[in-house]
Amino acid sequence: MKRIAISNLKGGVGKTTLGINLAGALAEMGQRVLLIDTDSQGHAAISLGLKHTAGLWDLMITGVKPSEVIHTITDNFHMIPSDKRTGAIEQQLVATIHREAVLAKRLESLEGYDFVFVDTAPSLSLILQNTIVYTRSVLMPISMDYLAVVGAMQSLDLARLIQQEMGFKYEVFGIVPTFVDKRLSITDTVLGHIDRVFGKEGIPVFNPIGIDTNLQKASAKHQTILDYAEKSRSAEDFRQLAEDFLEQTKVGTRVEPLQKVSRG
Ligand SMILES: Nc1ncnc2c1ncn2[C@@H]1O[C@H](COP(=O)(O)OP(=O)(O)OP(=O)(O)O)[C@@H](O)[C@H]1O
Ligand SMILES: [Mg+2]
Repeated sequence: MKRIAISNLKGGVGKTTLGINLAGALAEMGQRVLLIDTDSQGHAAISLGLKHTAGLWDLMITGVKPSEVIHTITDNFHMIPSDKRTGAIEQQLVATIHREAVLAKRLESLEGYDFVFVDTAPSLSLILQNTIVYTRSVLMPISMDYLAVVGAMQSLDLARLIQQEMGFKYEVFGIVPTFVDKRLSITDTVLGHIDRVFGKEGIPVFNPIGIDTNLQKASAKHQTILDYAEKSRSAEDFRQLAEDFLEQTKVGTRVEPLQKVSRG
């Protein structure tokens, strides 16, 4: 069971969109996937039409079993949703011993999934620390904005800090360029930054997700892009990403980038 946080401290770079649609694409390929939302905005659940239900707060604070907060989106795609109560988790955990390891503890008994993705909020928080301690692995979407590169670097710094403090091995699973529009010169500039900052370090840079308003429309219809517009460009992007992603997990921790970002 591979656990991966989807993180970038910059807001609006496509974290939730990546979580939902990569999970959806992997599920379509027969993988069993759980998506855990840790953002009090609760956008993952809203985007998939799941409402007013038990979720992260219940798991972390009342200590119910994972099975009681896991909801079925499709046969292979399950979710632990979040809602505004997630904002109160931090205060509740302040006095807890090993407060950065509560999520890991609560999910100790979880089994039966090939992948567990954790969607995160763009803020330095105890919940984010809990996520890093649980997953020890991160996938970072970066939109075509220099500040999104900075947000990813900040995300990495936090992970490295926690790694030093707690002494565990931490894996950067890869970068996913998002909102890519090849007609814009900023796209080339930011892809260049990504290559220099992450690619050169041997961090895999996956093929990009293009800009596509179908992704927004799919959320409004409470569907993944694969169900909403199965033949759309971005549905293809996510299917390709899921294939590369699976390949990468077979290879394990790599030092070589999986492939060069295609700009052609
Ligand atoms: N490739 C894309 N093309 C067009 N729109 C996109 C794309 N990816 C995401 N969006 C839209 O951009 C908005 C922000 O995306 P998303 O919510 O996934 O970002 P986020 O990083 O999760 O944001 P936050 O930091 O607030 O959690 C959403 O309305 C989403 O539908
Ligand atoms: Mg989000």
